[in-house]
Amino acid sequence: MGRSNHSSHPLLVVILLHVLWISPGYASAADKHAKDFYIIYLGDGPGNGDEAINTHVNLLSSLDISLEEAQERMVYSYTKVFNAFAAKLSPHEAKKMMEMEEVLGVFKNRYRQLHTTKSWDFVGLPLTAKRHLKAERDVIIGVLDTGITPDSESFQDHGLGPSPAKWKGSCGPYKNFTGCNNKLIGAKFFKADGNLPNGEDRSPLDIDGHGTHTSSTAAGVLVANASLYGLASGTARGAVPSARVAMYKVCWAKAGCADMDILAGFEAAIHDGVDIISISIGGPIADYSSDSISVGSFHAVRKGILTVASAGNDGPSSGSVTNHEPWILTVAASGIDRTFKSQIDLGNGKSFSGMGISMFKPKAKSYPLVSGVDAAKTKDDQYLARYCFSDYLDRKKVKGNVMVCKMGGAGVESTIKRYGGAGAILVSDQYLDNAQIFMTPATSVNSSIGDVIYRYVNSSRSPSAVIQKTREVRIPAPFVASFSSRGPNPGSIRLLKPDIAAPGIDILAAFTLKRSLTGLDGDTQFSKFTILSGTSMACPHAAGVAAYVKSFHPDWSPAAIKSAIITSAKPISRRVNKDAEFAYGGGQVNPRRAASPGLVYDMEDISYVQFLCGEGYNATTLAPLVGSRSINCSSIVPGIGHDSLNYPTIQLTLRTAKASTMAVFRRRVTNVGPPASVYNATVTAPKGVEITVEPMSLSFTKASQKRSFKVVVKAKQMTPGKILSGLLVWKSQRHSVRSPVVIYSPSSD
Ligand SMILES: *[C@@H]1O[C@H](CO)[C@@H](O)[C@H](O)[C@H]1NC(C)=O
Ligand SMILES: *[C@@H]1O[C@H](CO)[C@@H](O)[C@H](O)[C@H]1NC(C)=O
Ligand SMILES: *[C@@H]1O[C@H](CO)[C@@H](O)[C@H](O)[C@H]1NC(C)=O
Ligand SMILES: *[C@@H]1O[C@H](CO)[C@@H](O)[C@H](O)[C@H]1NC(C)=O
Ligand SMILES: *[C@@H]1O[C@H](CO)[C@@H](O)[C@H](O)[C@H]1NC(C)=O
Ligand SMILES: *[C@@H]1O[C@H](CO)[C@@H](O)[C@H](O)[C@H]1NC(C)=O
Ligand SMILES: *[C@@H]1O[C@H](CO)[C@@H](O)[C@H](O)[C@H]1NC(C)=O
Repeated sequence: MGRSNHSSHPLLVVILLHVLWISPGYASAADKHAKDFYIIYLGDGPGNGDEAINTHVNLLSSLDISLEEAQERMVYSYTKVFNAFAAKLSPHEAKKMMEMEEVLGVFKNRYRQLHTTKSWDFVGLPLTAKRHLKAERDVIIGVLDTGITPDSESFQDHGLGPSPAKWKGSCGPYKNFTGCNNKLIGAKFFKADGNLPNGEDRSPLDIDGHGTHTSSTAAGVLVANASLYGLASGTARGAVPSARVAMYKVCWAKAGCADMDILAGFEAAIHDGVDIISISIGGPIADYSSDSISVGSFHAVRKGILTVASAGNDGPSSGSVTNHEPWILTVAASGIDRTFKSQIDLGNGKSFSGMGISMFKPKAKSYPLVSGVDAAKTKDDQYLARYCFSDYLDRKKVKGNVMVCKMGGAGVESTIKRYGGAGAILVSDQYLDNAQIFMTPATSVNSSIGDVIYRYVNSSRSPSAVIQKTREVRIPAPFVASFSSRGPNPGSIRLLKPDIAAPGIDILAAFTLKRSLTGLDGDTQFSKFTILSGTSMACPHAAGVAAYVKSFHPDWSPAAIKSAIITSAKPISRRVNKDAEFAYGGGQVNPRRAASPGLVYDMEDISYVQFLCGEGYNATTLAPLVGSRSINCSSIVPGIGHDSLNYPTIQLTLRTAKASTMAVFRRRVTNVGPPASVYNATVTAPKGVEITVEPMSLSFTKASQKRSFKVVVKAKQMTPGKILSGLLVWKSQRHSVRSPVVIYSPSSD
């Protein structure tokens, strides 16, 4: 069979082309002396400039490498925010490095992937929402992505003054890059491995479209009359149209996003003075201290910068959530109240509605309808021809016809177009909640509709069909995207992830004209705006909300901003989302309420270390994060309560499904609402669970006052794999501060 390049996972294939990239793989494993890039962490915080670089080169040359060669092999010297370097080493050399006294950790560089207006009105941030324009102009969002399209209308700077005084970033000049302005105030690129893919320049220019899309979602200016060939038309804009954008290009066509480049991107963003970092990239699940996004975002939070990251597109599998650190705001993708459908009219008078975007108006009233099986080259080819894979189809049996194909891989429409087909009906049961853009008349239907169509093809002498041009359709929302990665958190049983859901299905935002809409061979569709889906698109929505909150409260800590966003979220119904909080965390972002949460669960950075100690990390494994081996987990004041965190959500994972479990969670809230306020606790406990809060009432007499309370959760035995949803709400006359309380029984005991 051997068609391993044809995944049976349609979205996966789609995103390999649209939103995700696969790593190229490095030197062949056959070469024993093959060298790879490694990241080497050293102690004692950032050294200063040249001196630190010299130390790095000297350290490297102590491996019996000449000074010249050491200089050549070293691709990064990180000296601004943390002390580390990246260099090409053999496995043996890496091992030797690890044994050196001054080395805190050595990690092999890996490649990560991208997680790939209307949506703002839907979440309740209309154009007319109250804004803090003066402060908003001082907020800088740093985006780590595929680069940016500087001449896009979304990044024009009409009416914006010069960059905020704190800004230390820069912007080229670069070849083929028209440059920055008062909106796009910085752009840098990071590419250490030297393999520049075809069509890419050494510049932050976006030739993929992903980075342009995410940046404009977070902070694009208003662009009237934006649409994709008339679909989704309206005014495109980001959450904070007056905020500034800085692009850090760390992802490259086909190559993906290297850990060492991501780390360099974080360092530059932190040093340049961004306020919020948005990163729609994820990768293989790693532990908290070896993951470049984890390390980079930890240094960011210590400098008061919140990192907002996508949860991943590996749903609905359980435990698939990535970027699950307690200091990151982890964002799931939800649907808004519109989708894109095309009507299929069969020759027998029946009509069905298919998913996806096809901008083509049919030229004829109907076309012969042929199934892939019936268009096979030979009998032996029938099995794979059902998927309409090009090698198995007889071109003559495709020409002029509408094909019905089982969805087996990307690029089927490219084949149909190349063979002169009139369109394609793709049958699939996965990911029918987001609209794929097609390069030929095409649409997706589920297998029950597919069966009806196949039966019609089989039973009629001259079956025919036509696929109409796509229309916008209203649907009930919000709901969580099937592709959005789910909890439980693979990094810790004590921490609920994802944190929040934000729109990530069929999002219209700015794009590049350097790439066709599908990226497939033969696609001639280009547009300045396009529709994309992914947690990649949800992340900048939440980053934009974080910037919106920051514009009202410039002095809030990352933990306070996170808390405000999570506790103000709009509940999402459990009924249509069986994974409950593991799908949506606190619920759907609710920007205006997030700016006025009443109370926040704030946190000091030391809590994160206490949490990690509680998770079994020790001086050695914590070193790359904190920059030294000095943490003594036994002497560090143990964190408070079951999870050591003052987190705005609560998760209790049962130790065994058979016995009952009890845990005490300690929390402390800070009054950020009216000085004199009284909050009463309202608790909702699911069946079999007892939740008590003590005290049940908190009274405040001034601003910034803190009050502590404890939550005791007792759960009886429950079915393995089950998630129960409880709730704690602190209510005052003006505010409701919502914290989900999740009780989970792991599937494997
Ligand atoms: C950069 O500019 C050169 C010269 O104008 C052109 O040939 C090349 O295709 C451009 N590259 C990109 C990525 O646009
Ligand atoms: C929007 O576009 C349509 C058609 O392209 C045009 O008729 C209309 O005047 C435009 N509206 C604005 C506000 O530019
Ligand atoms: C297929 O789609 C139709 C129409 O949207 C729906 O009524 C039906 O329940 C779906 N079937 C499955 C198996 O999802
Ligand atoms: C249609 O006919 C093909 C053989 O030509 C068969 O494999 C398939 O199961 C039939 N489908 C239905 C829905 O009857
Ligand atoms: C720290 O943890 C690692 C991984 O769990 C373990 O291999 C190592 O022995 C521990 N070190 C100390 C000093 O306990
Ligand atoms: C860590 O702290 C404990 C308790 O204070 C102490 O007994 C132990 O010696 C310390 N370990 C190190 C390596 O300093
Ligand atoms: C809180 O509870 C107290 C005592 O039960 C009650 O008097 C008060 O009105 C409540 N406040 C609010 C805001 O619900």
